[in-house]
Amino acid sequence: MSHDDFPTEKPAVVTCGLPYANGDLHIGHLRTYVSGDAYARSLEKLGQRTAFVSGSDMHGTPVAVNAEEAGVSPEEFALEHHEKYAETFPRFNVEFDNYGHTHDETNTELTQEFVRSWIDNDHVFEKEIQVAWDPEADTPLPDRYVEGTCPYCGAKARGDECDEGCQRHLEPGEIEDPRSTLTGNPAEYRAREHEFLRLSDFQEYLAGFIDRLEGTSNARNQPREWIEGELQDLCITRDMDWGIDYPGEGKEDLVLYVWVDAPIEYVASTKQYTERVGEDVFDWEEVWKDGAPEAGSEGDADDETWEAADTGEIVHVVGRDIIQHHTVFWPSMLRGAGYNEPRAVMASGFVNLDGQAFSTSRNRAVWADDYLDEGFHPDLVRYYLTTTGGFQQDVDFSWEKFQERVNGELVGTLGNFAYRSLLFAARNYEGTPEADASDEVAERIEEAVADFEAAVNDYSLKEAGEAAVSLAGFGNEYIQRNEPWNLTDDDPDRAEQVIYDCVQLAKAVAVLSAPILPGKAQRLWEQLGEEGSVHDAALDACLEPPADEFGEPDELFEKIADERVEELNEKLQERVEAATEDGDEGTAETEEDESMSDDTDIEPIDEDRISFEEFQDLDVRVGEIEVAEPIEGADDLARLEVDIGVETRQIVAGIKQLHDLEKLPGTKVVVVANLEQAELFGVESNGMVLAAGEDADLLTTHGDSGPGTKVK
Ligand code: MF3
Ligand code: ZN
Repeated sequence: MSHDDFPTEKPAVVTCGLPYANGDLHIGHLRTYVSGDAYARSLEKLGQRTAFVSGSDMHGTPVAVNAEEAGVSPEEFALEHHEKYAETFPRFNVEFDNYGHTHDETNTELTQEFVRSWIDNDHVFEKEIQVAWDPEADTPLPDRYVEGTCPYCGAKARGDECDEGCQRHLEPGEIEDPRSTLTGNPAEYRAREHEFLRLSDFQEYLAGFIDRLEGTSNARNQPREWIEGELQDLCITRDMDWGIDYPGEGKEDLVLYVWVDAPIEYVASTKQYTERVGEDVFDWEEVWKDGAPEAGSEGDADDETWEAADTGEIVHVVGRDIIQHHTVFWPSMLRGAGYNEPRAVMASGFVNLDGQAFSTSRNRAVWADDYLDEGFHPDLVRYYLTTTGGFQQDVDFSWEKFQERVNGELVGTLGNFAYRSLLFAARNYEGTPEADASDEVAERIEEAVADFEAAVNDYSLKEAGEAAVSLAGFGNEYIQRNEPWNLTDDDPDRAEQVIYDCVQLAKAVAVLSAPILPGKAQRLWEQLGEEGSVHDAALDACLEPPADEFGEPDELFEKIADERVEELNEKLQERVEAATEDGDEGTAETEEDESMSDDTDIEPIDEDRISFEEFQDLDVRVGEIEVAEPIEGADDLARLEVDIGVETRQIVAGIKQLHDLEKLPGTKVVVVANLEQAELFGVESNGMVLAAGEDADLLTTHGDSGPGTKVK
């Protein structure tokens, strides 16, 4: 990889994908924002000068369509949501250095400057295309004004995105069987002149770029297929009123496509930050422009000129549905205007609720406001969202799982360690006893610091969180092993040593957990009698002597009781039912909601593909049930004898309540024959019968393949 490890000498910018200003935020939306915030704070911990910026995405059909439904102008609608977001983020300790919006002057000017630069460098051309048209409403149907079928994967798609299938961007005219969302009529087509960014100009450049790109593996791998194939040019204009005007001559009726001005807000927002704090504190051009090869010099774009270029430390944190925009379109847009390229793209998985997608229309969501109104500290959900599973994995939220992690790791490990250590120290020594950290503890802290640094360079917040929590886990084990309460009388020196170590460990835990738990870490810092903000403390502070004096602490975290979880589940359930009874589909859907929701509650497909060889490791065969009887005492289990050609197998299956067992003999099923043996309820199970869904719908065959036939 051509990049130096963080921290580097240069300033960095961390961005979060711009939320469309068109709906309420739920905790599924919060994932990328708390992650971006935690990542920016982590870089700062390493000593990297970092600006953390984003803004609201005000334009495009996602806003226009919802504004129309709400009966207000897009501007008023978007501004209202923008203000709400700007208030909500800090309540989750998501503290942007600048949070702007795409409709402000800075972004409007900068966007038009970018486009002019592409025009000057001959990357823009005009073409007549067929755009979707509603014959009844007599109006063009850009993007979300049409719905139809994805030409690439066949999934239901809307306008410019295959949001429920392959997540590809769709160009105007690409969607199949388009229908107008205004009238439900099949769309017709009309010829219109539009402007295009010639992406093929950047093909070679992108091939080099994708090799340099850091971040999560989905963002580095998924685009290869697009970049290596033929790049389709990007239509950068739309027939709409709401948006930023296309700056070219004689094109007053066109606005820019929302995906043109939206990412440029990353730059505009950084620029506004500079305007506020001054160039000597943070210079936006140093990150975005300095060292970039001149626009219009694509010939050498994939060679050493770029490898050696002093490019910007730009890290984009986004949802995985917009990987293509950030790894194909955006780098081309930057390159075409002579700007630096991103260093990394971190693309997160989606968030589900109790195993199913969030759905705004069915009120099946934990709303950001509701979460806070329940009295939960924002750091708890930050911890859950940033450290449950790898960043690119989908995360399932349920109140039970939330309770489990809060009670286990935050209360049981981190909070427990901090409380017992500081309480003992305060009661016996009124603070830190006189001693030095032992070698064992100093080394363990150094190890945690190294783990943290490695995690940040690996773009893994989960591992960064683990560095802090496992250090607290070590602390618990250390205090338990050394029993200082038995030493105070017999060996007071040793007791002082042990407690000094514990205070040092607690201080290190505060520093290392600060990016993910900004509020709680600050509280711990204050309990430790430390001055100022834990967020200004560098990693070195982990091993600096703790403050001499502090009083008795209070508990950092509170257990979530089982009754509370029940109550929360009931509330959610009631809301969903109320919404369903009302048939209330009227509320505006936001971008992610639709991409995450789906009417049949189908789980999203795991991103990590397996190879054909891995598939072949499975020995799957046709079988025929010979015997099916209930297992006494077990609620769900049945004992089956299944003929799989070579032999008859005893298999235990969880189908007792779901099938009439007496009718099963003679039924053909599909069996995983090489699954390791297991014992369930004292009965040996030797294979697995495949079934679909909650009702254990048994898989069968439809031809006459007999028992033992391999499934492939
Ligand atoms: N608003 C877009 C979405 O929610 C994201 C825009 S991100 C940016 O999908 F790159 F354009 F900034
Ligand atoms: Zn698709």
